[in-house]
Order: sequence, then structure tokens, then C-alpha cells
Amino acid sequence: MKKRLIVIAACIAALFCGCEKAEQLNADVIEGKPIVVGFSQVGSESEWRVANTESMKEALSEENGYELIFDDARNKQENQIRAIRTFIQQDVDYIVFSPRVETGWNSILQEAKEAGIPVIVIDRDIKTVDEDLYTAYIGSNFREEGEKAVRWLEDLLESQGRTEEIIRIVDIQGTIESSAQVGRTAALEQALLRNPNWEMIAQECGDFTRAKAYEVMGEILNRTKDIDVVYCENDGEALGAIDAMEEAGLKCNPNDGVIVISFDATRLGLMYCLGGKIALNVECNPLQGPYVDDLIKRIERGETIERKKYIDETQFDCFTITQDMIDQRDY
Ligand code: AHR
Repeated sequence: MKKRLIVIAACIAALFCGCEKAEQLNADVIEGKPIVVGFSQVGSESEWRVANTESMKEALSEENGYELIFDDARNKQENQIRAIRTFIQQDVDYIVFSPRVETGWNSILQEAKEAGIPVIVIDRDIKTVDEDLYTAYIGSNFREEGEKAVRWLEDLLESQGRTEEIIRIVDIQGTIESSAQVGRTAALEQALLRNPNWEMIAQECGDFTRAKAYEVMGEILNRTKDIDVVYCENDGEALGAIDAMEEAGLKCNPNDGVIVISFDATRLGLMYCLGGKIALNVECNPLQGPYVDDLIKRIERGETIERKKYIDETQFDCFTITQDMIDQRDY
């Protein structure tokens, strides 16, 4: 086993045993050697994902002391499992991955554990039989993002005096069984239970892409154009759904048209918000690279780490957003 792995294994053992900081294990002993990270990215399905990949590549750069082995899984879990197995064979120092879906990771994570390689899960969360199968998670609280969206919608409809009116809602879901989809959908479904005047008239998967959302929204519009709200589980889907609705002659605007809700708050999504076509855009922050860099450096120094870290996120609505806010965005 490489010297770094002995150091890290001892650090992690010290952390999980609740022992004092294992400062003597400071990774300075291997000063000069890059930290080798294998990163399995789920794909490149959205603007958000592109920004996430760039953030990771920038933070885990040669100048920052890393050698990054990047793999694009093209939105397939089996490709991610294959990539992680290859990283294990390459005996990397850390494995980082952004999981397509929540489940199905136990065996491969067990292999990584047996090889003594720490695993950091980013972006989407996972469910495993044993929490110790991975070292830490850094990403978004998707359920909370969904809660922000539905609470805002409840307030908007109340301010419009529409609490008794039937509100016909379409949900364009993200990749089914990804934690981003699970959390955002769950918040909407919970809100439907407490708002008896809300009616889910269609719920289809847009797979987090503009093209798929355009396609499924077109099919829904062939069945009905009587729609009050379209809840899109990311910006790409919102853009695709808006294209389809406008082609069908519908207006997207919270004052006198369809209320479109979106997640991510990418620059393009926010431009649509400024134009009123997206009524609310809940931020999902893709700039996770610096958090991963910080976490790895903490582990290297033998410091205590946070096992689960949710990144701070905000929200933008079409009534209060300004061009200035968009200009300040990094993605
Ligand atoms: O997991 C984060 C989600 O995945 C983002 O909302 C979406 O744009 C991406 O593809």
C-alpha cells in the first residue's frame, strides 16, 4: 500500500474512533507528490453539470497539488461502477463521484473500502446499507429546494386570491431515482396533500434535459392546454417546456399565463426569470470543487471532517430579480 494510503487510513481510523487530531500523520510527509483523485462525473446532461465539471477540474488542478483522473459516465450507472472499479485498480488516493441514482452502490463501495480508498460523494446523495462505505457527502439539500419552491407557490397563489380555485399542475421530473428528483418531487407531492385545490394533471420524466422535457411537454399539451403551473425539476427542462408551451400558443408568465417553476438558477435560467417566463428559480449550486478540495486537504491534515455538508443555496423570483444579480453569477 502506498505511503499516502497508510497515512490516510490511519487519519480516517483516528477520526472515526473519535481520537484526538492525528496531527502527526500530517500528509506533509509526502510533500511534493500530487494527490491522485479519480472523479466519476454522471454525464453532461445540463448547463449545471457542465459548471459542476468545470468547478471540479479547476479546484482539483495540478497547481492545487492534484492529479485528476476524470471519467464521464454518460448518464449510465454501470459506467460509473466501471470507472470506480478502474480507479480502485489504479490505486488512486481518493475516489469522488456524482451518483446518477441513490441506490445500487453497496458492492462497489465495499470494494473501495477494502482497498482502503476514501470515497467522497458529491452533488446527489446515496443510500447504502452501511454509512461507513463512504467517507463524506457534499451536495444540495434537494428536499429543501423543493420546499422553497412549493412554499413560494403557496404564497403567490394566496396573493393572487386563488386558494379556492383548482390549480392544475404538471411535474416534469428529473432523472428518476436520483436524489435531486426524489427530493424535489417529494416536496411537491407533500404540498399537494395539504392544498386540496392543487391537482397533478401530469407527471412525466424529462431526465434533466431540455430535449426530453420539450418532447414530454409536447405530448402533455396534445392532451390538454388547461395548465396553471409547470414544475420543472431543472433549468434545462424549464427551457424545453417553455419552448413547447409557446409553440402551442401558451404564455408563460405568473400574472396572466402559466406559472413555471425551475431549479438550478444558471445564468440562462435566470435570464428567463428576468423575462418573467420562469416565475421562480431555486438555486442548486454546482460550484462544489472548492468544497471537495477543502475536504481532501482536511483529511490529509488529519482534521475532523463534516460527514454530510449541504451547500448554501438561495432563490430568485421574476418580481425581484435584476440584471445586476445575474451579472454577479459565476455560472
Ligand atoms: O443533481 C443536480 C441536478 O442534476 C441539477 O439540478 C441538474 O441540472 C443536473 O443535471
